[in-house]
Amino acid sequence: MNLILLGPPGAGKGTQAQRLERAHGLVQLSTGDMLRAAVAAGTEVGKRAKEVMAAGGLVSDDIVVGIIADRIAQDDCKNGFILDGFPRTVAQAEALDTMLAERGMKLHHVIDMQVDDEILVERVSGRYTCAKCNAGYHDKFHQPKVAGVCDICGSTEFKRRADDNAETVRSRLEAFHAQTAPLLPYYESKGVLGTVDGMAAIDEVTRQIEAVLGFATA
Ligand code: AP5
Ligand code: MG
Repeated sequence: MNLILLGPPGAGKGTQAQRLERAHGLVQLSTGDMLRAAVAAGTEVGKRAKEVMAAGGLVSDDIVVGIIADRIAQDDCKNGFILDGFPRTVAQAEALDTMLAERGMKLHHVIDMQVDDEILVERVSGRYTCAKCNAGYHDKFHQPKVAGVCDICGSTEFKRRADDNAETVRSRLEAFHAQTAPLLPYYESKGVLGTVDGMAAIDEVTRQIEAVLGFATA
């Protein structure tokens, strides 16, 4: 099964993608994570993306389409993938349609994660991740079971993102409303759009997504 998690910054795309990956063996493909890795490694793509990301704008379509085209061609995507943060423009969505058709692949679901803008700044400002396995946490909403120790890999090193400040989050939100929200009618017209309440607790959001995907839940 191939799906897209669609939602504004802080909607919970990464949180839910990691859960679906662990529970159902789907591969998480986060363009944000891939671009941050490129920036950290100082690659050509990283150099081109760095300033745009720091300002909260969108990296050019040709860069992210190229990254995803390379990634979905890899073997581990054959059993299904979760696109987290891609596509973000109608041009990216059209490029995705073309690359899937060329490979005989299909998009099964697009999940619209609905969250009010007001809560997003708090979500993003309190976020941190495990420096080793990238598991996501939040100062208030999702702390590790043992303070200072990652639930997943046991690491005690954590990191915060450079673009997780209130000012950049507002720019990222503007980019979402102007450039990414038009994807909702695009996918609705294709009959693949499902909606979940991204304001609900993390477990409940997972349950709602699994219901849309048709996975049996306990
Ligand atoms: P990207 O990394 O994709 O960032 P984003 O879309 O802004 O989304 P976030 O990662 O901030 O939020 P999320 O929805 O994953 O939330 P999370 O699960 O972490 O992109 C970064 C930048 O890269 C972009 O600005 C752009 O420059 C560039 N880029 C990337 N893709 C691109 C593309 N396709 N085209 C062009 N440019 C691109 O949750 C947030 C926090 O809230 C966490 O701490 C979590 O624990 C907590 N939380 C999650 N769910 C809940 C809940 N239900 N209740 C309470 N707390 C919750
Ligand atoms: Mg994310």
